[in-house]
Amino acid sequence: MNLPWVEKYRPKRLKDIVGQPKAISDIARWAQSWERGRPAKTTALFYGPAGTGKSAAAAALAGDFGWDLIEMNASDQRTLAEVKRVAGTAASTGTLFGGTAAKRLIVLDEADNIYGTADRGGYSAIKEIIAETRNPIVLIANDKDAIPWEIKAACLMVGFEKISEEVIIRELGRILRLEKIEFDEIVLKVIAETARGDLRSAITDLQTLATGKKRLTIKDVVLYHRDQEIKIEEFLAKLLEATSADEARKLLWSLDMPPDDVLAWISENVPLVVSEAGARAKIYDAISKADIYLGRAKRGQAYGMWSYAGDLMSAGVSLSRSGALKPAKPKLPSHIRRYSRTRADRAVRDSLAKKIAVHCHTSSKIARREIIPYLRIVFKNDRKTAEAIAAALELTEPELSFLR
Ligand SMILES: Nc1ncnc2c1ncn2[C@@H]1O[C@H](COP(=O)(O)OP(=O)(O)O)[C@@H](O)[C@H]1O
Ligand SMILES: [Mg+2]
Repeated sequence: MNLPWVEKYRPKRLKDIVGQPKAISDIARWAQSWERGRPAKTTALFYGPAGTGKSAAAAALAGDFGWDLIEMNASDQRTLAEVKRVAGTAASTGTLFGGTAAKRLIVLDEADNIYGTADRGGYSAIKEIIAETRNPIVLIANDKDAIPWEIKAACLMVGFEKISEEVIIRELGRILRLEKIEFDEIVLKVIAETARGDLRSAITDLQTLATGKKRLTIKDVVLYHRDQEIKIEEFLAKLLEATSADEARKLLWSLDMPPDDVLAWISENVPLVVSEAGARAKIYDAISKADIYLGRAKRGQAYGMWSYAGDLMSAGVSLSRSGALKPAKPKLPSHIRRYSRTRADRAVRDSLAKKIAVHCHTSSKIARREIIPYLRIVFKNDRKTAEAIAAALELTEPELSFLR
């Protein structure tokens, strides 16, 4: 079965949420206060970077306390009236069968994306909901600065941190063991470093790289990257030659690459080859709109967003082109440079430096700056000594090839 691993391994209980001890204990304490009655802070605001467990924690909280989970998108004004109704209904009125009904945990995602700060309609509705609710509410936001202070003042503020590389590595290792896939530790390090604190994207990357393999090695990472590069080169060339919207769209859907990555490639490369200024402006416009729709699609808004974004980045870009094309070799977008050879190399180098440092009682820095260059010379010229060193340091295959 090909369930996304972020779903398959979604934390079921608060104790499964990793790397957020402070947030989790605050949340649990707040939920307990709801069990005793209606607390002064009816609402908790979960804020922090993407992929750090905010939505997962809300769902796990409902699971732990046996509350019904009602998730709604706060940025949709029409749903706020509905939220108000649901929130205001007491949970303890009893059910038809005599028992007490469970509380409802109302989760409002995208609380930082309520239409324009100029229009306070959405926020004043939320303020009323917070004041009147008879059920616990969780607001979720990436950017707490985008939320009016009156709302923040009324909420229990719960900050989520970026997940440390160490914790990401542990989590990725746990998943691979459950999937029964062997791995070089170094691969996890590269993925974790690339994810910059976003566990969701780390798990997604891991699945992309590891699916269907018995063993995941650093070679797979480098090869994957090269494959992607070849695929995208072909795609960009064809996109610029497409003569109809339909053709452009088909090219995009046949590409099989995360839309974020495709957009990064397009925005890094297409404007470079289009020389006519007016056309270039139109292309930038299509790209920036695609980016907006893509953001909305990812935050779970209407499904149509995916297809708008797709249309803009394929047909929107391709049909805006006019004038001659300047030939150019595709340039790696910065955020895709993530799986580049240099990055993988650097991870190998660092692990090697650490080993040497321990073995030689020195610092990793000295190992990197002084010992590794020396070892490289040895590995080129003196096979016997090289073998002895390799054995003593228990060098792995990637480390060996790094030295060769
Ligand atoms: N702190 C965490 N602990 C465990 N899993 C996490 C954590 N953060 C993210 N994940 C993984 O990433 C997925 C998405 O996380 P999510 O809670 O939606 O992030 P956010 O809402 O902060 O953007 C989860 O299903 C889970 O697999
Ligand atoms: Mg979320």
